[in-house]
Amino acid sequence: MTRILSGIQPTGVLHIGNYFGMMQQAIALQNEGEAFYFIADYHALTSVRDQDVLRENVRRVALDFLAAGLDPERAALFKQSDVPQVTELTWILSTVAPMGLLERAHSYKDKLARGMSPTAGLFSYPILMAADILIYDSDVVPVGKDQKQHIEMTRDLAGKMNEQFGQIFKLPEPRIQAATEAVPGLDGQKMSKSYGNTIDIFGGEKEMRKRVMSIVTDSTPVEAPKDPSRSTITQLYSLFASKSELEEMQARFRKGGTGYGDFKKQLFEKIWEYFSPMRKRREEILAEKLYIDNVLVRGAKRANEIAGDVMTRVRSAVGLR
Ligand code: ADP
Ligand code: TRP
Repeated sequence: MTRILSGIQPTGVLHIGNYFGMMQQAIALQNEGEAFYFIADYHALTSVRDQDVLRENVRRVALDFLAAGLDPERAALFKQSDVPQVTELTWILSTVAPMGLLERAHSYKDKLARGMSPTAGLFSYPILMAADILIYDSDVVPVGKDQKQHIEMTRDLAGKMNEQFGQIFKLPEPRIQAATEAVPGLDGQKMSKSYGNTIDIFGGEKEMRKRVMSIVTDSTPVEAPKDPSRSTITQLYSLFASKSELEEMQARFRKGGTGYGDFKKQLFEKIWEYFSPMRKRREEILAEKLYIDNVLVRGAKRANEIAGDVMTRVRSAVGLR
């Protein structure tokens, strides 16, 4: 059976980019194989330096992922650090990881450009991510496009280990949803919590409305025709609307006579309605005190079983046992 694995960092509140880039795919794939999804708290230590914030974020990501449709009967949901063997595998992989490979990582360079300090942890982040993937013999890894290079690095490292020590690891395949690989944010750049341009999935109504109304537009007057192909409004609307609803909005753009404000209101209504069943589910989960803890404990148990077997194989192959 195909094994599907993905992770998400608990570094902030989940937004529409996370949802369409990664979560939606991960949730759909839980019906197609054996799925493992984890909350990457070891990874988050490279940027979150407050223990209460980290704990709170982990719970919140678990809650939001469950509310969005992750079914714990089908997919194991767990905390990365509940499988500490992954750090042992990280060390073993690091002994074959070329410095040049890590130096070429876009995400490391981007993070430094955004002012993060160049720690060894940040630099070796892709090795921990490779260990995350390889320790579960993963076949398919659903992610957003920005993670593609990390999966390629994982395949490189697995290949090097296999060359050196015999066939230990499977080579995983990334699964990137082309239509939603780069969800734009309020300013038209890629939506990202580090750019402050997000629409959060479970934000309050007032907050979400405010965010949608602040989408950056050009100064075309109300009566003039507008170009739908370049608008963040239509790009976001396409994620939520049916084909005919989208075409209807595009036609109204071209016709003129409707201001951006009206289109934004229509977009807000659509987004709000789309996430409404998930908000309801979220309330139900919150009402059940131990639900999240129980899910995470069960998930960690399943994950540990597999990681334990793979680590036995790795330790034996490299000569640690
Ligand atoms: P952020 O950029 O907000 O820090 P993360 O880097 O934590 O988001 O991304 C978590 C997951 O969501 C990754 O798989 C990433 O590829 C996906 N993702 C994040 N932002 C977007 C976006 N704007 N469009 C598509 N996918 C995204
Ligand atoms: N690096 C990913 C991100 O920032 C999160 C992640 C960590 C991950 N380990 C993973 C994703 C393993 C897929 C598989 O979004």
